[in-house]
Amino acid sequence: MSSSQNTQSLAEPRARGVFTACVLSNDPLCPKHYRIRLGMKNFPPSHPGQFVNIQCTGCRGRGVCDHADAQALTWSQTPRPRHPTGPETIGRIPLLRRPFSLAGRRDMTDGTVELDILYRVVGPGTNWLCQRKTGDEIDLLGPLGNGFAIREDKPLAAVIGGGTGIGPMIYLAESLSSAGRDVKAFAGARTVSALPLTEEQKGFFEITTDDGSLGQAGMVHEAFAQWLERDRTAEMVVYACGPEPMMKAVADICTPSGIECQLAMERHMACGMGVCQGCAIKVKTDEPPGWMFKLVCKDGPVFDAGELVWE
Ligand SMILES: Cc1cc2nc3c(=O)[nH]c(=O)nc-3n(C[C@H](O)[C@H](O)[C@H](O)COP(=O)(O)OP(=O)(O)OC[C@H]3O[C@@H](n4cnc5c(N)ncnc54)[C@H](O)[C@@H]3O)c2cc1C
Ligand code: FES
Repeated sequence: MSSSQNTQSLAEPRARGVFTACVLSNDPLCPKHYRIRLGMKNFPPSHPGQFVNIQCTGCRGRGVCDHADAQALTWSQTPRPRHPTGPETIGRIPLLRRPFSLAGRRDMTDGTVELDILYRVVGPGTNWLCQRKTGDEIDLLGPLGNGFAIREDKPLAAVIGGGTGIGPMIYLAESLSSAGRDVKAFAGARTVSALPLTEEQKGFFEITTDDGSLGQAGMVHEAFAQWLERDRTAEMVVYACGPEPMMKAVADICTPSGIECQLAMERHMACGMGVCQGCAIKVKTDEPPGWMFKLVCKDGPVFDAGELVWE
């Protein structure tokens, strides 16, 4: 994301590191989604839109570990060349760290930091995470990536979250409100039982569900478009995170109207730090062939909507 005089500066140089966090709570918000609260002795400055990479193996503390920790990656003797036949390839142990957006942060008066992460259980890593108990320790790397830019010259912000993309929108809405912005927040889910919000948070968001089981029936970008038509009052920025079709729909609403739109993108990630080149995304350039690759983990995950090539 390009910087400008009207952009609240992001911390430079970016501090990041590996930290041990203590699980303060880990509660279901609905059948598939959990919110984990982590306590840390310290953590570098972070911004909404940034993420952490969690080591979803090992087990220090009281949690019941579902995988045998001692199972190391083993190497076959035949055929040659050797290839790993350990648990990451044939089993379901999540050897690589898993990325999760920050969904909230509280800096305490004694210097300690609390982080929130909102996650959906989809596989072995998130299954491991949902079994962590209060008092367990987990290992995380962060904060990673670039966060959303808060514009000094635009008093109004719309934040739009879909599914697990609602997590970073909670953190962003809190930061925007603290920075004195007027915030209109939208949250969408398939159905009420897949909506990852507390009762208190539900009051802050305008909610849509595909099946109409809570809030307005329909898609979250449709509710946003109706509000834009009806109630937009000032120069504004739109921020969104969620399934890619949702973000494209939001971009398609904003771009023709000249409304700045920042999107938090996701790709499968291995290193999370720009080393493995595994998280490439196409962005537009003026040079032939008209596009180039950037890395979601290092150059993003937040991108200007107008910069992206949708495929
Ligand atoms: C920058 C970033 C931020 C993220 N923030 C959150 C968050 O706040 N909360 C949350 O619940 N999840 C988030 N994710 C997705 C999360 O990292 C994956 O769900 C997690 O790694 C799955 O691990 P697993 O071992 O449980 O499942 P796996 O077995 O690794 O995956 C289960 C299924 O999910 C798909 N999947 C996994 N990762 C991705 C991805 N990045 N993009 C598309 N499909 C994927 C896999 O293809 C597979 O079908 C984020 C991803 C990125 C890149
Ligand atoms: S995840 Fe390795 S370069 Fe982005």
